[in-house]
Amino acid sequence: MKILVTGGAGFIGSNFIHYLLREHPDWHIVNLDKLTYAGNLENLSDVQDDPRYTFVHGDVADRELVNSLFEQEKFDLIAHLAAESHVDRSILDASPFIETNVKGTQVLLEAAKQYGVQKFLLVSTDEVYGSLGPDDPAFTEENPLKPNSPYSASKASADLLARAYFVTFGVPVVITRCSNNYGPYQHPEKFIPTIILNALADQPIPVYGDGLNVRDWIHVEDHCRALDLAMKKGEPGQVYNIGANNEHTNLDIVRTILKIMGKPETLITFVQDRPGHDRRYAINPAHTEAALSWQPSVDFYTGLTDLIAWYTANRAWWKRVKSGEYREYAEKWYGALTS
Ligand code: NAD
Ligand code: DAU
Repeated sequence: MKILVTGGAGFIGSNFIHYLLREHPDWHIVNLDKLTYAGNLENLSDVQDDPRYTFVHGDVADRELVNSLFEQEKFDLIAHLAAESHVDRSILDASPFIETNVKGTQVLLEAAKQYGVQKFLLVSTDEVYGSLGPDDPAFTEENPLKPNSPYSASKASADLLARAYFVTFGVPVVITRCSNNYGPYQHPEKFIPTIILNALADQPIPVYGDGLNVRDWIHVEDHCRALDLAMKKGEPGQVYNIGANNEHTNLDIVRTILKIMGKPETLITFVQDRPGHDRRYAINPAHTEAALSWQPSVDFYTGLTDLIAWYTANRAWWKRVKSGEYREYAEKWYGALTS
């Protein structure tokens, strides 16, 4: 099998490439990534010389480049993960979110339509459903899409475009909507890395608003296994919710991590809330569990404990991300980076 993975230098993408190389020794993977601030080739330095892996530096919204890749290779599968992924950044400037998440997805769908693939996996998000009240049932695949941030609106647009390419053109699209991931190689701008890194440095931990927003956490490894199954067993035109039935308030998460690390709760600092901050996400994964024979396997407390140990053992990785030095690694191999 030959698979095009987009956004493979990011958090989930790099974990997914590691997963695929481990689980499918005979697959060839092409990783198309623009290497924005979120793309870090050091996440994949251990596989860069693997003959089953090829990196292409480029933009998913660049139609010419995407078409030229399909002219050169016959891809069996596309796993589309590339995105602008951070809600706070979308509030500051929505434009790159439209360019990458909407236009980039359309360019890839068009290539899939023109050149043909066995499966087009669109990695969407639970944020497309909007926000839940405290007593609402968890999101099922039947919930309407009601995105609230420019990020989630751009992801909902991609999600609906993918559906349209299935209905109108028969592109074999499979859509997954996963809850909040945690695990190695996540960019330090996100919540759990912020907590761990600030706690390691005895720095204040910013908690937005009252800290009672609820997220439904899943280990990235469980997400990757579900993505692999969705590619293999997912039915074209179907949506698969992915989640681990693991809801926690943000405050709970900070307290748990501080306790594991032996750090004081006085580090918790309430800061101004995120505008339009979704109150609660919760995923009902019953359809995916039944249809793909999938179950999450990583216990949350164990996953967090292991992650804290990972940050302690991989100081060089996150120090280079924080200082910006990780960009030099990519520049050495692929020339000047633009964004
Ligand atoms: P990330 O920000 O860590 O990585 C995104 C990657 O995409 C980076 O390597 C970046 O360089 C690349 N990229 C950005 N714009 C590009 C472009 N125009 N062309 C090519 N590459 C580009 O994101 P992540 O957290 O790993 O998320 C991956 C995917 O999973 C996204 O589609 C996101 O919406 C989705 N998702 C994330 C979560 C989560 O909790 N992180 C949950 C559900 C779904
Ligand atoms: O639900 C899936 C989504 O999860 C993905 O689609 C997004 O790509 C991913 O970024 C994530 O979005 P969130 O906005 O939920 O994640 P973030 O880590 O930014 O924030 C998690 C919660 O923590 C949220 O309620 C905001 C809060 N927060 C975040 C940061 C960075 C804080 O209180 N303080 C912080 O410093």
